[in-house]
Amino acid sequence: MHKFSQLILQCRAGFEKETAAEITACLARAGVYGYCQLTEGQGYVSFQGSDGALLQQAVENLPFDELIYIRQWTLATDWLELSRDDRVGQIREQLDGVPACAEVWVEYPDTTEGRELATFCRKFGSALAQRLKKDRWLRPAATEEKRGSHWRLQLFVLSGERMALGIAPLANSAPWPQGILRLKFPRQAPSRSTLKLEEAWHWFVPREEWDTRLTGGRAVDLGAAPGGWTWQLVQRGMFVSAVDNGPMNEDLMESGQVEHCREDGYVYTPVKPVDWMVCDMVDKPIRTAAMVVEWAVNGYCREMIFNLKLPMKQRYKETERCLQHIEDALALAGLQWQLRARQLYHDREEITCHLRLF
Ligand SMILES: C[S@@+](CC[C@H](N)C(=O)[O-])C[C@H]1O[C@@H](n2cnc3c(N)ncnc32)[C@H](O)[C@@H]1O
Repeated sequence: MHKFSQLILQCRAGFEKETAAEITACLARAGVYGYCQLTEGQGYVSFQGSDGALLQQAVENLPFDELIYIRQWTLATDWLELSRDDRVGQIREQLDGVPACAEVWVEYPDTTEGRELATFCRKFGSALAQRLKKDRWLRPAATEEKRGSHWRLQLFVLSGERMALGIAPLANSAPWPQGILRLKFPRQAPSRSTLKLEEAWHWFVPREEWDTRLTGGRAVDLGAAPGGWTWQLVQRGMFVSAVDNGPMNEDLMESGQVEHCREDGYVYTPVKPVDWMVCDMVDKPIRTAAMVVEWAVNGYCREMIFNLKLPMKQRYKETERCLQHIEDALALAGLQWQLRARQLYHDREEITCHLRLF
């Protein structure tokens, strides 16, 4: 029998239903069937599959980048019940039949209860990694020149005694533990929203392309006040048209790189095409989707980052509808594009999307 029997999908607490809908649809497209176990607010979902080998193929082949609500995934064993003594030894014994891994992460649900496990997980992870290095079980990650492991060992801990042991492909899983990018709030930034745009860039624009795609040039920020997103654009050397009827932060205006346009962001159009459009206006998501299509079809910018605020009900269905609307309209206009969407760590009742036109 295959070692692994479940996929553990971490998500923002409260978004378990969306996560379950997303993984079920995604796996069904790959011909993998099973059922989800979830409790509202627990910060993860367990997809129970009847065929572990198919689940393994799925985490290797379904692009992790295309998932919206799933922060991290782990192809895992059933829940293990450990006794308190020598937990490292007990996990070591479970490693028969697990592919060699390059590194170890010990993760926990991002909930109030889960966060109390942070210190235990850090210490346990480092003790386990030491033991696995000593046993020469851990192998360096594969590079182009060297054969090595493509896997990361991931433990998902519910308590000191209950956890699941699993793996995830290094190149097809979240690059940060728990799928959480922890950013330091820059003190000069006018609002905490600033972290949303910064996080979005980390997910959507490869670091080595920041100098070409995210430096200098012109940007439009729709719904800009008080200026957290504009601040990020200014930091990247951009000249920004900040569109909002509300007041902009005065220090930011003194940078000389910001023009404040007191206009309706849904009707604003730039005089000349710009490099970036970003949008953080709170309105019906389908209205934002329609506006994004206008910008793309008219060639007003090369790249966009925009939020889709989620409705109270049918959140998964509504985001699917908006994203589909954008893709259908762009296809009809004969455009070439890349569209990605993700519920960021810094997002609450919204998802963040990135549209790049070629
Ligand atoms: C969430 S706040 C934006 C925060 C901003 N991104 C930041 O980092 O500081 C939303 C803003 O959108 C603006 N807004 C909402 N509807 C708008 C519209 N139709 N046109 C222009 N601004 C709008 C509001 O005035 C508000 O300042």
